[in-house]
Amino acid sequence: QAVVKPFPDHFLWGASTSAYQVEGAWNEEGKGPSVIDKASFHDGITDFTVTSDHYHRFQQDIKLFAELGLKTYRFSIAWSRLYPQGDGRLNEQGLAFYDRLIDEICRHGIEPLVTLYHFDLPWALQEKGGWSNLATVTVFERYARTCFERFGDRVKYWLTINEQNIMILKGEIIGTLPPGTPNAQQMLYQQNHHMMLAQAKAMILCHQLLPEAKIGPAPNISCVYAASARPEDVLAANNFSAIRNWLYLDLAVHGRYNAVAWRFMEEKGYLPAVTEQEMAILRAGKPDFIAFNYYASATVGADLPGEAREGEEVQQVEDQQLAGIDRTVYVGTNNPHLGRNQFGWYIDPVGFRITAREIYERYNLPLIVTENGLGAFDTLEAGNKVYDDYRIDYLRQHIEQLQLAIDDGVALFGYCPWSALDLVSTHQGIGKRYGFIYVNRDEHDLKDLARYRKKSFFWYQRVIASNGANL
Ligand code: BG6
Repeated sequence: QAVVKPFPDHFLWGASTSAYQVEGAWNEEGKGPSVIDKASFHDGITDFTVTSDHYHRFQQDIKLFAELGLKTYRFSIAWSRLYPQGDGRLNEQGLAFYDRLIDEICRHGIEPLVTLYHFDLPWALQEKGGWSNLATVTVFERYARTCFERFGDRVKYWLTINEQNIMILKGEIIGTLPPGTPNAQQMLYQQNHHMMLAQAKAMILCHQLLPEAKIGPAPNISCVYAASARPEDVLAANNFSAIRNWLYLDLAVHGRYNAVAWRFMEEKGYLPAVTEQEMAILRAGKPDFIAFNYYASATVGADLPGEAREGEEVQQVEDQQLAGIDRTVYVGTNNPHLGRNQFGWYIDPVGFRITAREIYERYNLPLIVTENGLGAFDTLEAGNKVYDDYRIDYLRQHIEQLQLAIDDGVALFGYCPWSALDLVSTHQGIGKRYGFIYVNRDEHDLKDLARYRKKSFFWYQRVIASNGANL
C-alpha cells in the first residue's frame, strides 16, 4: 500500500481569530468604532462589545496557545484601534497594544500571522463612502504602511484582506454596504475593484519595506460541484466558480479580470469603472502565497425552464448569482452525498482536498489554510469539561484530506483552524462556538469569562506534537 507523504518539516500548525470577534474593549484606549460595532448596536445577538475579552486577557490566552503547541497564531489588527477615524490621527495606545500582543506571541516562540483587515472598516471611513470611495485605497495603504513599519521587525507573514469575496457576495449582511444603497450590486463590484487596488498597493509596499516578509490574500474558496453530469449543470458550476472564486484570485495573482466574471458583470450592468493605470497597479502587486478559508463546498445547477430538479430541493443563492450567462440561471442545490452541521452548513472534507488542488493548479503558489472549523453548541459539563468529539471528527477528517492534497503535490505550508479560542460568531453569537478553548460566558451573561481546555485542545496538541502523524 502506498504511503501518504507526511506533513513537511516546519509546517505551520496554527489557529485563527479576528480582532472584532475576540478582543472586546471596543471603545477602550482610543479605539474608534468600526462598521461592525455600529451594526451590533442594532442587533441583540451580535454584540461585539466584550466578546472573549482577549484585549485584557491576551497573556493568559497566548500562554494557552503555547501549551497547545501552536507554531503560528493568526489574528487581525483592528484598523480603528490604530486610526480611530480610519485616517488622520494615529492612536499610540492602539499601537502599544499590538506591540505587547506581538511581543507576547514571539516570546512563546509562536510565529505571528497578521490579517490587516478582517471586515471591520473604521466607521468614520464608512461615513465617507467606505470602499465605494476611491480615497479609501490611499487610506488603507497608509494604514498598511503603519503596520509594516511598526510591527515588521517581528511579523514575517501578512494577510491583506479577509474574505473579500464574501464581503462582495454578501455585502449587505457583513456591513460593507450601507443598507438601502441604490444600485447595490454595481456598487459592490466597484468596491471590489477598490479593495483589489488597496490589496495590490499593500503587497507592493510590503515588498519594498520588508524584503524578507511574505504577504498574500485570504479569500474564502470553495470548490463548486455541478448538480449532475448534465453539461448545462457543469457550465452553471463553472460560471459560479468564476464569480465566487476566480474573479478574486485572478485579480490578486495575475492582476487581470476573469473573462467569465467580467462578462457576468457586463451583462448584469455591474461593471466597475477601471482605468489602465489601475490595472497596471493590479499587475504589479504580487502575492508570495495564497491563504484561503474553507468551510464547505458548493453545489450548483442550471435552472432550465420547464425542468423540475427531481429529488433536489432547489434554493436560490444570492440574487446576484442568478446570472444570465448563456441563458442559464444558477441555483444552489442540495448535495445528497454530504452531511450538515447543526447550523445547516455542509461538511465536505474531500471538497477541501479538491479545493486545495484547484487553487494550486491554477496559481502554482504556496498555500496556507487560514480558516476551517466547526461551529457548534458546546456544553460545559461537570468539572468544566467540554467533550467536543464532533469537532475532533470534523478537524481530523479535514486534516486527513489536507495531507492527501500534499501527497497529490500541493505545496501547503500551514493550517490554521477557526478558532483558537471561543469567540463571537459573525452572525450567530457566542453560542456558535469554534474554539479549542472554552470561554465561560453566554450570549447575555458574561459570567467570569474563564478559559477551559476542551477535549479538542488535547487532541490538537497531540496532532501538532506529532506533526500530523497522530490524528
Ligand atoms: C469566516 C470569517 O467567514 O467564517 C469569520 O472570516 C467567521 O470571521 C467564520 O466567524 C465563521 O462564520 P460564522 O458566521 O459562523 O461566524
